[in-house]
Amino acid sequence: MRYNDISDDLDELVVSEEQILARLEELAREVERDYEGSTPLILGVLKGAVMVVSDFVRALRIHAEMDWMAVSSYGNGTVSSGVVKILKDLDTDVTGRDVLIVEDIIDSGLTLAWLRDNLMSRGARSVKILTALRKPDAVVSDVVPDYLGFDIPNKFIVGYGCDYAEKYRNLRDVAVLAPHMYS
Ligand code: IMP
Ligand code: MG
Repeated sequence: MRYNDISDDLDELVVSEEQILARLEELAREVERDYEGSTPLILGVLKGAVMVVSDFVRALRIHAEMDWMAVSSYGNGTVSSGVVKILKDLDTDVTGRDVLIVEDIIDSGLTLAWLRDNLMSRGARSVKILTALRKPDAVVSDVVPDYLGFDIPNKFIVGYGCDYAEKYRNLRDVAVLAPHMYS
């Protein structure tokens, strides 16, 4: 019985759920060491980071708090301008806090560069970045993730929080969206 099966829309698998979960366990061990004596504030960027935050905080064996921000970058939609509007702000005062921003994917890195500087200007003690996925263009940006899941090819992917027109976020694996879906 197949009804509107998501897998019909996909090309090749890029990263499986098993690979992601195993990598997040490794990163959790690094974060536990690096944040010894601190209770980091895990800041998920809505909506894409929901899955990563959910899996990552459960891999952690130290205290951590969670909060969320929603941002949108101005511009014509396909090209990130780096000018960012806050749609939902943090509930937490970040003054003196060690903030770990968690993202699903870094492409140009412009949004994250803005967010990192914004949090530092609010008086965070430290701001680090964890991303599940990184695309090749991110290499030229000045945003270097402190914790990286996987480098992936420069193709449009969906799943594990990443969307196309708000769909496919619920896919467990990361896969290339078949070009016939958007061209
Ligand atoms: P940037 O790093 O500021 O260019 O923007 C990164 C954001 O672009 C991510 O949070 C995603 O929402 C989106 N994005 C970039 N590449 C992809 C992709 O391949 N699939 C789905 N979303 C993507
Ligand atoms: Mg996003």
